[in-house]
Parts: sequence; C-alpha cells; structure tokens
Amino acid sequence: MARVVVVGAGYVGLVTAAGFAELGHSVSALETDTARLRMLVAGELPIHEPGLDELVRRGREAGRLEFGSDYAAVVPGADHVFLAVNTPPNPDGTPDTQFVLSAVRMVLEHARPGLTIVTKSTVPVGTADEIDRVVRGSGHAGIAVVSNPEFLREGSAVEDFFRPDRIVVGAVRAEVATAVAALYEPIDAPALLVSRRSAEVAKYAANAALATRISFINEIAAICAAVGADITDVADVVGADRRIGPSFLQAGLGWGGSCFPKDVRGLVATADRQGVRTPLLEATIEVNDRQRDRAVELLLDAVAGRADATVAILGLAFKPHTDDLRGSPALEIARRLGESGVRVRAHDPHAMPKARPILPDVTYSSGPYDAVEGADALLLATEWPVYLELDWPAIARAMRGRTVVDGRNVLPGGHLTSLGFEYHAYGRATTGSLIDLQAARHDPFPQASDMLVGAIADERDRAAADSVA
Ligand code: UDX
Repeated sequence: MARVVVVGAGYVGLVTAAGFAELGHSVSALETDTARLRMLVAGELPIHEPGLDELVRRGREAGRLEFGSDYAAVVPGADHVFLAVNTPPNPDGTPDTQFVLSAVRMVLEHARPGLTIVTKSTVPVGTADEIDRVVRGSGHAGIAVVSNPEFLREGSAVEDFFRPDRIVVGAVRAEVATAVAALYEPIDAPALLVSRRSAEVAKYAANAALATRISFINEIAAICAAVGADITDVADVVGADRRIGPSFLQAGLGWGGSCFPKDVRGLVATADRQGVRTPLLEATIEVNDRQRDRAVELLLDAVAGRADATVAILGLAFKPHTDDLRGSPALEIARRLGESGVRVRAHDPHAMPKARPILPDVTYSSGPYDAVEGADALLLATEWPVYLELDWPAIARAMRGRTVVDGRNVLPGGHLTSLGFEYHAYGRATTGSLIDLQAARHDPFPQASDMLVGAIADERDRAAADSVA
C-alpha cells in the first residue's frame, strides 16, 4: 500500500483522497483554506456529494485518511503527491496554473528522491512538462512527474472513482506510469498509458466531445421544433445506433458546471495560441448560449406587461444531485431576468445556501409550491427528482400565469397542456397523437410481426383461391 498526499481538498481532491483511502492507501489531504480545513477536521463536508461523507468517515475511522495543512509533516514520507488544486480561467480563457506551480514549490521544499508528482485536476497542455522543468531547476533528482486526469461527474463522483471507464496515466517512463496505475488496484478498468501531453489533451477532448454532443442534440431539437418532430423520439432513434449510443443526448438548457464551460473555452484558447482554428468548438459554445437565450426570451414574453412580473425557477444547481452553481444556466437566467426588472422566486433542494450570497435579490422559497405562488411563468431549470412528481393542478391554482418552460424536457407536457398550461420545451411535441404513439411503442414488434404474418397469410389464401379458380 502506498503513502499518498493529495494537495487540495476541493471537489476532485476530496473524492480522490477518500477513494484512495478506501482502496487501502494511507492518505493525507492538504488544504490551505482554513475554514474548509476546520470543517473537514470536524467531520463535516464542504460540498454535497452522494456517498462522500460515508467514504470520508470510513477512511478516517480506519486511520487511513487525515486532513491537514502542513506539507513538512507529510510530503517527506510520501510515495505520490497528487495535485488537485484549481486552475481558474485567465481573462483570455486559458487556465491559470499559478496554484499548481505554487503547490509544486511547496512540495519540493520537502520532497525526497523516489517521489512522483501527479497532476490530477484538469491542467492545460504542457503543465506536466512545466512542472518537470521546475523540479529540475530546483536541483532535485529522482522525482517523476505524471499526468493522471480525472473524469469524475459531480453527483456520481464516488461511483465514478470506483467504476471508471478507463484510468489514464501520462508519463515519460513506463515503470512510473505503471506504478501510478497500480494505485487503483483492484479497480477493474483498462489503464491507458500515454504521453503526458496526450493525457492532458485527452481530458479536454473528452469534455469537449460530451459538450459538443449536447450542443449537437440541442441543434437537432431546434430543427425538431421548427418542423414539428419530437427530439425525445429522435434522440431515442439516434442513440439506439450502437455506434452512437444513448447517453448525453438530452436536449434542453444545455451544459453548465465547473468543467465543460471552462474546459471547452480553455481548449479553444489553447488552440488559438497555437494558431489552430476551432470552428466546431466555437459553435458548441454558441449553441449552448442560445439555449439560455431562448429560455429568457420565452419568460420575458410571458411576463410582458404584467405588474410585478414574477418568474418561478425550480432548480438552481447546474444539474441534479449537487449544490454546485458554477456555470449554472438557472443562475444566469435568474440574473438576466432580474436585470430586466422581473422578480424571481426560486427553489432548489440543496443549492439555495450557496445561491443566496450570489443572487441576493431572488426570493428563496421553502418548497416548489411556495416558489410558484403568484408567478406568471415557471422555469424548470434542474431536473431534481422532486420536480418530476409535482401536483400540477395544485401548481395551476397557485400560479397567476400559465406559462411553463421545461428547461430539461422532463415534464409531462401533454398533461400540462390538458390542464391549460402553455407548455414550452426544447423540440418536444405535446400533441395527443404522440401520446398514442408512445403507448404503442412499448410493444412494437408483436404488432408489426402480427401484421406481417397476417399479410403473408392473406397472400397465401389469395394464391390458393387463384389456383383453385
Ligand atoms: C463533467 C464530465 O462528465 C466529467 O467526466 C468531468 O470530469 C467533469 O465534467 P459534470 O460537470 O459533473 O461532469 O456534469 P455532467 O453530468 O457531465 O453534465 C454536464 C452538464 O451537461 C450539466 O449541466 C448537464 O445538465 C448537461 N447535460 C448532460 C445535458 O444538457 N444533456 C445531457 O444529455 C447530459
């Protein structure tokens, strides 16, 4: 079992530290933010992430996970130091590596030969090489630098840690790469050992691929809306192709979060610096921005001319099962509505404490029914399970207006329309014929084959009758 130090107990660092402790390694997580460190030492988590509190508790009880801030106490005994500090965007969109490099300098003050420094959080291409130069410049020998990007999704990060699709290690020497990959045993996933720059680009490319896929389906949704097709059906058909697959084809308000917006822009900026044009990635961003614009336009139209125009927003987090508001469409839309003089009432099961200081003018509600009270229009921005089971007749009674914008294409549009709501989604049809079709769709093959068998029998009977005649 290895001795691991994780620098940065943020989202990625915490999951990585607790995950390695669960795998049997002895882990020290270093955090310089004193408020955050105090919480962690007291056994509280600064973020909401399913399963993480249990994992952290287990690690600490087993004596394999500790939190601190003293590099001198833990780096000299470490085999691997994982860097999980943040890389906020520079004004030009390129990621700022100053926190990574200052962490490296702190590590080098206490490092011993044989140590491997591993970049974990997303860093711009060339960062591992740059760290290597800092290491050599400091006069240290026998310290390796490796890239080991994470692919954790918020809301399922713990599961993603233990069940990854792949473990990526970018290194110069194979034995160093193998040693880092071995830290993940007995996790059953292919280890892809590549160059450091390939590992760094791959992390950006994976996020860009997913963001592009979402923008693609959103563009198709706009076409569906224009021609009267239904994006849910279209996505089912497209996703059933095994070469394409069904995931990340959910149309709606588009992508947000701490990764996609920053990483897609970061990749564009990195390419631009190298003189490489990126029209596809730029269009990916443009389509995503358009999704939010459309929601704002629909909502402003719905409240136009109303005294005390009020919009209710259900869901503030950038996606369900997290309280993270970074890059959240809901937050941007709430801000833009506020700037247009619209009152915003909002509810989110977990993200309201974080939203309050960012948007103090919003009225935060105790529940979804309280949020919609007197509202002229409603936006469903985050598909929390609690919003999928709302009592719509009760909402109709509570609201002043009738407009519902389904930002995630998850509400029962036909039912809402029948209750008198003006239902808007992203490329979804809500006509009765669709509901009939969906009912039939559950059992399409028996019906089709019955028809076929019937037709063959008819043909045979006709042929028999002809031959008799
Ligand atoms: C993402 C990557 O999935 C993860 O591998 C990487 O390490 C970090 O970035 P995350 O930001 O947690 O993870 O969220 P993810 O579940 O990927 O969703 C990103 C955004 O896309 C969300 O705003 C979500 O609502 C949106 N989304 C996702 C869609 O609009 N449609 C979809 O079909 C899927």
